[in-house]
Amino acid sequence: MNPTGDLTLVIDAGTTSVRAMLFDREGRMRAVAQRELVQHYPRPGWVEHDAGEIWQAALACGRNVATQGGGGDRIACIGITNQRETVVAWDRRTGKPLHRAIVWQDRRTAPLCAEMREAGHETVVQERTGLLLDPYFSATKMRWLLDNSDDVAAAARSGDLALGTVESWLVWKLTGGAFLTDASNASRTCLLPLAGRTWDAGLCDLFGVPVAALGEVSDNAGDLAEALPEWFGAPLPISGLAGDQQAATVGQACLEPGDTKATYGTGAFVLTNMGREVPRSRHRLVGTVLAQVGGERAYALEGSVFVAGSLVKWLRDSLGVIDDAAQTEVLARSVEDNAGVVVVPALAGLGAPHWRPDVRASISGLSFAATRAHLARAALEAMSHQTHDLAVAFAADGAQWTRLRIDGGMSANDWMAQDMANVLDLVVERPDFVETTALGAGMLAAYGAGLFASLGEAAAAMRGSVREFEPTMGQSEREQRLALWRTALSNLA
Ligand code: G3P
Repeated sequence: MNPTGDLTLVIDAGTTSVRAMLFDREGRMRAVAQRELVQHYPRPGWVEHDAGEIWQAALACGRNVATQGGGGDRIACIGITNQRETVVAWDRRTGKPLHRAIVWQDRRTAPLCAEMREAGHETVVQERTGLLLDPYFSATKMRWLLDNSDDVAAAARSGDLALGTVESWLVWKLTGGAFLTDASNASRTCLLPLAGRTWDAGLCDLFGVPVAALGEVSDNAGDLAEALPEWFGAPLPISGLAGDQQAATVGQACLEPGDTKATYGTGAFVLTNMGREVPRSRHRLVGTVLAQVGGERAYALEGSVFVAGSLVKWLRDSLGVIDDAAQTEVLARSVEDNAGVVVVPALAGLGAPHWRPDVRASISGLSFAATRAHLARAALEAMSHQTHDLAVAFAADGAQWTRLRIDGGMSANDWMAQDMANVLDLVVERPDFVETTALGAGMLAAYGAGLFASLGEAAAAMRGSVREFEPTMGQSEREQRLALWRTALSNLA
């Protein structure tokens, strides 16, 4: 811990923007800065980011909030959280990216995944890593870079290649060359066994990824690395690192087995804390590391839905049916029901529990009675339907939810929060401060730096107050809604 500081600086490197926030010990956000990230779509289904831009945005936002907070001396520690699975390849000698980062949403390795599945490799991948053979996870993206970029292949031959997820890249840049990746991010690659401390040589061979190109797997909290003084005016400890969904789980204080959160950002990600047992899904959910501290791990079962807030963004930017995201709430409230309109938001295929990278989205049930208000309402309803599909899969895997803690930008929509409670027939709990991803990274960092004696203590001090939404929908209406959804799903091309 920097002894002169009492604030925690968090860098949240997300999919659509990079942000930095400063938190005090009570979890109050004292400063925030944000930069949008350019999305590159070189071909249909491909999504790339410029890793140099991610770094520059992280640094600029970090410096901005550090200045707002009174300078580096006021900062006790740094936490980093990030979009997961996205792969950065860089040169260890120059510290320069060798290719654009391949983003988690990118589907280019679908053929390779299908080939590996046909060759019978999915069972071993699932048994060892808790994951599935889907282009979502990092290993096939790494393999694609090695096969398709001359610069990446040459760096691999000369031993200068570094392959990492976004937190790993940022730690490298902040420290001037520390090469590590935290266990929660590493558990999204298909190369880390859920029960193992480090990379699995057999899996690295299977995916054709050289172990030598990977960083050291670290804890999520503790004395992890130190940022150079040139960035923020003081040498600052990096004491918290976590993938954004794991960070949000901590930020929602889901610290006991059974505690469940759902974050509605670009996508929607539901995690249930499964305690110290390695989770084994039989219903197409994935097992993942929730947090590792002092080498001890807690695990989670996860349902990853690829499209949530990005559907609203698409309605705004591509269809022009709304002017801003908040308008969906006004429109949804302005009509009695969905008029039979159902949206299946498979714009990037379907994730859990369906895992169908090949299907595409649909809007069905249109009649002359349908208006843009019905479309907006159906888009919000799709969030409840997708979450309900996950609830069924979690229950079948023995992880029945008793309440759901929601967060992320889209959860600020009261209509959606109430509809979620109705369709799930559960109490839905929403913290007043919905940026739990950054807050969770702040809790990990503050605990890791010794500001709190335990993660539980950090969560109790920093989470703040919550609002509850009670279910009010009758069983027959719920069943009707879900029946329409199931039909629309089964009609997907
Ligand atoms: O697994 C992808 C996830 O980490 C992305 O999160 O918040 O950028 O939608 P977000």
